Amino acid sequence: MKRFSTKNRGRLGHYAQRYRFSITMTILAILLIGIVSAFSNDSTHRVGTAAAIEVKKDSLKSLAAFKTVYAVLQSPRCLNCHPSGDIPLQGDDNRLHAMFPKRGPEGKGMLTMKCANCHQSENTAGLKTPPGSADWHLPPANMKMVFEGRTAHELAKQLIDPKQNGNKDLKALIAHADDGLVKWGWDPGEGRTLPPFTHAEFKEAWITWLTTGAYAPGK
Ligand code: HEC
Ligand code: HEC
Repeated sequence: MKRFSTKNRGRLGHYAQRYRFSITMTILAILLIGIVSAFSNDSTHRVGTAAAIEVKKDSLKSLAAFKTVYAVLQSPRCLNCHPSGDIPLQGDDNRLHAMFPKRGPEGKGMLTMKCANCHQSENTAGLKTPPGSADWHLPPANMKMVFEGRTAHELAKQLIDPKQNGNKDLKALIAHADDGLVKWGWDPGEGRTLPPFTHAEFKEAWITWLTTGAYAPGK
């Protein structure tokens, strides 16, 4: 037993000696890469580690892009589902939804007034009929994501705050441009106006704003 463990220790020692040099060099190399990248990335930094998204700060470009983003977010198709109260809005005048369905804890309505009772996964044909898209609902009660009444400054700050945006990082925010409820804004059913820019223009501005530093306008 004793002989076995001594022999074993001897073998481990041999391995340790053989690899000590390369382990030391590897650690040094990692440190060096870390130091170099920490100092070489003043205006450019990467977010996340897997599929990294490059952020290149440019306040002018960012603020210009946010003008388009803000105009879309404040347009009726988007605003009506991002109300400051607990009842969705409707129409181009953002009036309170008829029959006052309430948000409910999950944003899906309450009791007999569940959104899905009337809102299907597709628009209903005809005027003044319920619009539809998969999982039609408001943001939940504990994270209301209010657009109504927010200044450009307030909304810009709110959109990128994980505590207010549903815990979305940069990647999730970018992906949200293609969310089903967002896309519905450009296919809202008969008699409803479209946002002031096309979906492609919105998406481009959204990504530009986010990847140039997500600057908030002064007001
Ligand atoms: C049927 C209701 C509905 C409509 C219409 C709607 N949204 Fe939303 N929106 C939601 C819900 C619900 C969430 C939360 C979803 C989540 O967290 O994944 C949300 C979340 C968001 C977010 C993420 C919140 C944040 O702070 O970053 C953005 C951005 C957004 N919506 C933009 C839009 C835009 C732009 C439009 C119009 C083109 C729109 N929404 C139309 C219901 C809606
Ligand atoms: C009893 C049926 C019913 C229920 C329940 C209901 N809705 Fe509606 N909703 C409608 C009808 C009908 C319209 C279309 C009104 C019109 O165009 O004149 C509508 C329109 C809307 C609009 C306006 C779209 C726009 O941009 O003009 C939004 C937003 C909306 N509903 C959200 C909701 C949400 C969110 C819930 C659940 C909290 C909900 N609705 C519950 C019937 C309902």
